[in-house]
Amino acid sequence: PNDPPLVFHWLPYVGSAVQYGTDPINFFVRCQKKYGNVFTFVLFGRRVTVALGPKGNNLILGGKLSEVSAEEAYTHLTTPVFGAGVVYDCPNNMLMEQKKFVKVGLSIENFRQYVGMIVNEVEDFLDTDPAFFQYQTGDINEWGKFPAYKKLAELIILTASRTLQGHEVRESLHKGFADRYHDLDGGFTPLNFLFPNLPLASYRKRDVSHKAMSDFYISIIEKRRQENRIEEGDMLSALSQQTYKDGRPLTDREMAHIMIALLMAGQHTSSTSTTWCLLHVVANPEIADALYKEQVEHFGQDDGSLASLTYEELKTLPLLDAVIRETLRTHPPIHSIMRKVISDIVVPPTLSAPRDENRTYIIPKGHFVLASPAVSHMDAAYWKDPEEFDPYRWFDQSGAAAAALDSYDNGGDKIDYGFGQVSKGTESPYQPFGAGRHRCIGEQFAYLQIGTVISTLIRRLEMRIEKGVPEHNYQTLITQPQGECGVLYRRRPD
Ligand code: HEM
Repeated sequence: PNDPPLVFHWLPYVGSAVQYGTDPINFFVRCQKKYGNVFTFVLFGRRVTVALGPKGNNLILGGKLSEVSAEEAYTHLTTPVFGAGVVYDCPNNMLMEQKKFVKVGLSIENFRQYVGMIVNEVEDFLDTDPAFFQYQTGDINEWGKFPAYKKLAELIILTASRTLQGHEVRESLHKGFADRYHDLDGGFTPLNFLFPNLPLASYRKRDVSHKAMSDFYISIIEKRRQENRIEEGDMLSALSQQTYKDGRPLTDREMAHIMIALLMAGQHTSSTSTTWCLLHVVANPEIADALYKEQVEHFGQDDGSLASLTYEELKTLPLLDAVIRETLRTHPPIHSIMRKVISDIVVPPTLSAPRDENRTYIIPKGHFVLASPAVSHMDAAYWKDPEEFDPYRWFDQSGAAAAALDSYDNGGDKIDYGFGQVSKGTESPYQPFGAGRHRCIGEQFAYLQIGTVISTLIRRLEMRIEKGVPEHNYQTLITQPQGECGVLYRRRPD
């Protein structure tokens, strides 16, 4: 009797899978109007209870360890891809320690080096990739076109491997690593989440490539150890110097598996965000001009050329920062954050409103719970003209933008993953990186990567959009832009 309202559906087992799978945001908003902020839908036999709005986000992202479990929700999907003993294939307190280890690798000293490395990769790419032929001819009057999503995804795997993943991975990208990554990625889809064990070729390829990739990282670790190369300024060297609280160092397998997890966590999130960001910039010539001016103001030299980007300087570019923030508001890569309910959760009446003002719902053990900050990102209750892509809203320090900034500032470095004290920021209308104990640790790196790529492209190219900013494709785990995303470009005068 205290169950949250159940979304109406015709097919008993399938439930609302089609509506959810086609456009989850639209589905949630329709349900919200009908049932309020908390409701349950059926997804291939599972019961999934959605809790919307900042309070709903708080209920799930700030949920107690005794009530919600991420590992029970995700392990069937992630363990075959990442491997054993890490992330969701270990107790939560081990994951918290592993996140701290990774934070050591995401240090300011490393970031300082990464900016130059990323600039190099982008410039090499422009100089060599066939999609940039018109750039390579040096003729500033000739327009070319590149498929933005495809090219930026290629570029992001190059930049991520050059920086975090380490030079061995970067050097082997063209020697099979990219193919293995592709096969592994083919096993990291909504289908794998829904049906963990299907006798399909894609599942077998996933398993084969996981093993090959895990072995490859181990061979790197062993070689570095033999040659006594410990300090390489990348993630592997950081991991190899960490120990768990009980004094045990990470095993080689654990390190390998953390590296795979980071590769998977960072690749689609960053490549889609960079693409959306670029598409909005080139679709709004005033913003593109203002961004270029920002570069000139901060880096212009007496001879008219632009000085090299640096990490410190990159962090002080207000418009670039606002453009990335606004991109993540309008296109957060992750539309559904899930947990499994491991003991009944009492939902206070403030949350069941407006439909059931005074009722306390109970979400029973065995349900999944789902938070979708993407819905509050687009809610007119928190944002003026939420559909508008307006980076300047972040300059206005009032209302939702301020609340969001508050939660943003609570992230990253300030989180104490230690036991008990978890960050605030779980009740916010803006959470592209999640919140609470499972919050993203890749945020600063993502800003650095997206910001450096966009700045470098803006410095080199004048760009226009071919057809307007595309629709979302929700068929993949990470929300992608639909279609080719053509961008027209020509070389800026040197
Ligand atoms: C967790 C988003 C980039 C590593 C998360 C979560 C979100 C997110 C929403 C929370 C998931 C949950 O609560 O279930 C993003 C976005 C990114 C991004 C929008 C880029 C624009 C990265 C990068 C890395 C990374 C580059 C690695 C270098 C992680 C890790 C977790 C995480 C380790 C923790 C998982 C957990 O504690 O359960 N990310 N991410 N992310 N992300 Fe990211």
